Amino acid sequence: MKLLSIESTCDETAAAVVEDGRQVLSSVIHSQVAEHRTYGGVVPEIASRRHIEHITEVTELALTQGGTTLPEVDAVAVTAAPGLIGAVLVGVSFAKGLALAADKPLVPVHHIRGHVAANYISHPELEPPFLCLIVSGGHSHIVQVEDYTSYRILGRTRDDAAGEAFDKAARSVGLPYPGGVELDRISGRGDPERYPLPTPHTEGRYDFSFSGLKTAVINLAHNAAQKGEALCPEDLAASFCSKVSGILWDKLSAAARDTGAKRIAIAGGVSANSWLRRRAAEGCREAGWELYLPELPLCGDNAAMIGSQGYYELLAGNRAGMELNGRPYMEIDLSF
Ligand code: KG4
Ligand code: ZN
Repeated sequence: MKLLSIESTCDETAAAVVEDGRQVLSSVIHSQVAEHRTYGGVVPEIASRRHIEHITEVTELALTQGGTTLPEVDAVAVTAAPGLIGAVLVGVSFAKGLALAADKPLVPVHHIRGHVAANYISHPELEPPFLCLIVSGGHSHIVQVEDYTSYRILGRTRDDAAGEAFDKAARSVGLPYPGGVELDRISGRGDPERYPLPTPHTEGRYDFSFSGLKTAVINLAHNAAQKGEALCPEDLAASFCSKVSGILWDKLSAAARDTGAKRIAIAGGVSANSWLRRRAAEGCREAGWELYLPELPLCGDNAAMIGSQGYYELLAGNRAGMELNGRPYMEIDLSF
């Protein structure tokens, strides 16, 4: 079964053609990052406008590169939540138009479910149940993936998402958006012991809190500026990446031990972080757990992951009619 999938929840306009949930026939992404960088973060109004300008060409390219046409695909999948609402609505409206015009089933997909499904593409043998750490710009969750469309949330962030913490920390030391990528890039040359950072306390055993860590970095930057000293960006990046990956791994491994999970996946933009990937690989090797990470091009936002999850949503009978609306917020364990 071939799905045309569309993703427009943030600053990437993306379309893909995916066969049977696992085989990517094409995946096209138009990124707006360069434009948003001028403002230090995503400007929602600009994002929506750029989606409108690019969504037709991106979709046409995905169909052509996928060696197919709209009449030949079996369904149209679209990310309908959560995300910047003006951006989400561009994809949802466009997908509704396509589904109506071509008389195809319309499949609504949860963005974060899509991130989890990136692992189905990178690991054709992976099937639920497994434990998944989801870390993106807007989400930090530890979730039991019970089945392809069934999830149990074990833990979540109490304040900032992991990606948000990376971006804000990077910004406070003058690195461009998206800061997580920049911090990771320069961290390899840095000393992770140079700047001791606090370990946040949370009530919930599997919950996260990153705002204190972000404040600690901002304070370091202010104190250094007041003394007329310069922080070493490489050492700070290494200290921050090391701290955050340690926290994420400690919580994830505690959840794995408590639930007896033997298979562990990581998903979302921050799953690209080299410190987190290394920490998880070491920990899983020591504990004898199987680790599943998306390939790097599938960590960030893309439509291939939406086509993968869309396939399983369609098999589960999850379709939408022309009344489908986008939503800015929605928990992963809820259905449309
Ligand atoms: O999943 P994603 O592409 O978009 C959302 O759904 O939010 O995640 C974007 C986030 C950004 O905060 C970005 O800085 C972060 O993922 N990110 C990284 C890395 N690559 C992307 N954070 C740390 N290290 C990376 N290598
Ligand atoms: Zn995302």
